[in-house]
Amino acid sequence: MNRAIKFKLKNDKIVTIRRIRGTDYDAVVKFFDKAVRDKSVKYTSLYLGQPKQNKDSFVAMHNNPNNLFLGAWYGQDLVGECTTIKISPENPKYRGLTAETGTTILNEFTSNGLGNKFKTIVEKWAVENGVHKLYAEVFHKNIRALNNLMKLGYNIVGIKHNAAIVDKELMHIYTLEKTLKK
Ligand SMILES: CC(C)(COP(=O)(O)OP(=O)(O)OC[C@H]1O[C@@H](n2cnc3c(N)ncnc32)[C@H](O)[C@@H]1OP(=O)(O)O)[C@@H](O)C(=O)NCCC(=O)NCCS
Repeated sequence: MNRAIKFKLKNDKIVTIRRIRGTDYDAVVKFFDKAVRDKSVKYTSLYLGQPKQNKDSFVAMHNNPNNLFLGAWYGQDLVGECTTIKISPENPKYRGLTAETGTTILNEFTSNGLGNKFKTIVEKWAVENGVHKLYAEVFHKNIRALNNLMKLGYNIVGIKHNAAIVDKELMHIYTLEKTLKK
């Protein structure tokens, strides 16, 4: 995806979706500062007080064509992001045939079609960029994310039992995959 697109959410708000660039560092820091306070990230790996990413590594990652960082802007504010990273593209055995994808949308903007839209763009990019399989990891209590991915054709292919703790409760983490049609 090279050009920004306008996308109308189910609640009629219009967001602009485009790649997040190295120059968006401050907007992304502000976004995650908000996101970690959101109740919607309870069953994800995000946590209050997590360190912000180093700016140089942020810029390098966002300038790397093996990664796709999508952002949704509402006015000047980033309200959702979707990160997709090829696994070991430089390794002649792995060759970036798989990629891991993950999404964070601010609670106010969830359940309005943005998660689906991000994943449609990711799949197109993946097919065009030699990725055969997409992976995602989801806490077992994250019903919304599980619904989202499974409706889009992802299957659960693995479980890490008791791999995290949220409010004293042990979490299993599901690995989901989707094999892409060329
Ligand atoms: C999970 C997430 C990416 C889904 O994106 P979204 O924009 O909320 O989802 P959409 O509106 O595109 O809906 C897609 C599907 O998700 C499911 N879904 C959405 N909201 C839901 C809800 N409140 N309860 C249950 N399922 C829900 C539905 O299956 C829906 O399909 P439908 O529209 O055909 O019913 C988003 O809610 C989010 O970022 N949540 C917080 C962070 C997170 O959990 N990230 C995933 C970690 S891997």
